Amino acid sequence: MKRNLLLLALLGVAFFSWQLQAGEPAETKEQRDSRMTWWREAKFGLFIHWGVYSVPAGYYRGKSVAGNGEWIMNKGKIPMAEYQLFAKDFNPVKFNAYDWVKAAKEAGMKYIIITAKHHDGFAMFDTKVSKWNIVDATPYSKDVLKPLAEACRKYGVKLGFYYSQAQDWNNGGSTGVPSGTNAAPGWDTAQKHDMDDYIDNIAIPQVKEICSHYGEFPAVIWWDTPRNMNTNRAQKLYDAVHALRPSIILNNRLGGGYNGDTETPEQHIPPQGYPGRDWETCMTMNGTWGYKKDDNNWKSTETLIRNLCDIASKGGNYLLNIGPTSEGLVPQPSLDRLAEIGKWMKVNGEAIYGSGPTPFGAEAGKFSDTEKDKDGTPKFMANWDWRATTKPGKIFLEIFQWPTSRRFVLPGLLSKVTDATLVATGQKLAVSASSAGMTLDLPAEAPDKIASVVRLELADTSPKVESTN
Ligand code: GLC
Repeated sequence: MKRNLLLLALLGVAFFSWQLQAGEPAETKEQRDSRMTWWREAKFGLFIHWGVYSVPAGYYRGKSVAGNGEWIMNKGKIPMAEYQLFAKDFNPVKFNAYDWVKAAKEAGMKYIIITAKHHDGFAMFDTKVSKWNIVDATPYSKDVLKPLAEACRKYGVKLGFYYSQAQDWNNGGSTGVPSGTNAAPGWDTAQKHDMDDYIDNIAIPQVKEICSHYGEFPAVIWWDTPRNMNTNRAQKLYDAVHALRPSIILNNRLGGGYNGDTETPEQHIPPQGYPGRDWETCMTMNGTWGYKKDDNNWKSTETLIRNLCDIASKGGNYLLNIGPTSEGLVPQPSLDRLAEIGKWMKVNGEAIYGSGPTPFGAEAGKFSDTEKDKDGTPKFMANWDWRATTKPGKIFLEIFQWPTSRRFVLPGLLSKVTDATLVATGQKLAVSASSAGMTLDLPAEAPDKIASVVRLELADTSPKVESTN
């Protein structure tokens, strides 16, 4: 027992000192809550994966390459010199930052995370430490982060940068090939390089550049795939960012044992979320982050809206991705879905923005149209036909399946409901209590076929519910 306690103490000191090595005083809970406030309010953001990989768009030497579009150099084992030729065809003359940010804003998104540099090492900004960038290596020869920052400023949207701090298949970073602490040779001998030299002379200077040239942005640095990242390398990057942006939000993918501010489940929604921890599910709209011309495996708007409700009901944020083309266009199916989500958010956003997790413990529930209680009330069944989010003195019900019985039964709610309103129409709903729980009388038709929101006003500031376990 004593040994374990000692081990725990040492681990705690190690983590704590990780934060302190930067010479910063430990952040208090109040300071952290204040720093995270905008992000917790936001709940919904746009991920943008854009780069040279949108030129091959999933094809190499006439053959389709399996996997994410932005991984084509790795999956296709494309030699550096050959891959770099794609940059000659990267000329996004149709790119309009204001159109992109407006589409995100109208979708109800409050922040944007764009790939400043992905694993292929191509910088979408005017970097001075490598010629492998949009200004020096393409006919377009303009930094795209600058107009995005201006557009975000105009529309009141926060801007963050994804930066692949470890994998860099053209500037000598980790090739992602499993190895020790140094970058192993990848698929091209030209990739052989020293990892610490890459960190010191590419990653750190570039992170300083993206933290210095875009006004009040970035509000977030989104690290990824900490291959060959040890504590020393991670600490240096952490210090470089914090020296310039002390209140920045960092995710949990820096490496070196750094936990970051946010968990980052990818392409899935953790069943219980991460209680007590900030987290964000990032997800593609189709099957790839970076553009692939043949990937038309689009999720329905219904799925995307219900994902948003599900994530918010577990206390998380939704970071939904688009993969623009090499011409600078957002695929139309992405724009269509963003517009449809925006229509829903315009009516129902109050149930999402700044909301907290469901008070009903496990997954939200449903009721059976066949099984009834003794007084004929539909029996509560744990399933996935509705969600709940909360605000002080309120519960929002996001009802996916409209009950044919026209009665919605909410078991276990002890707080008195003083008002029940259908958000989309303003219609007041009759509320009654029964042995099965609170019952709402609903109109025959659901106001929204995807998710209809009911706002419950409570007599208590925080909902009192029976324990669910
Ligand atoms: C994975 C992929 C990367 C993508 C990221 C988004 O790490 O390797 O290409 O950017 O997911 O979360």
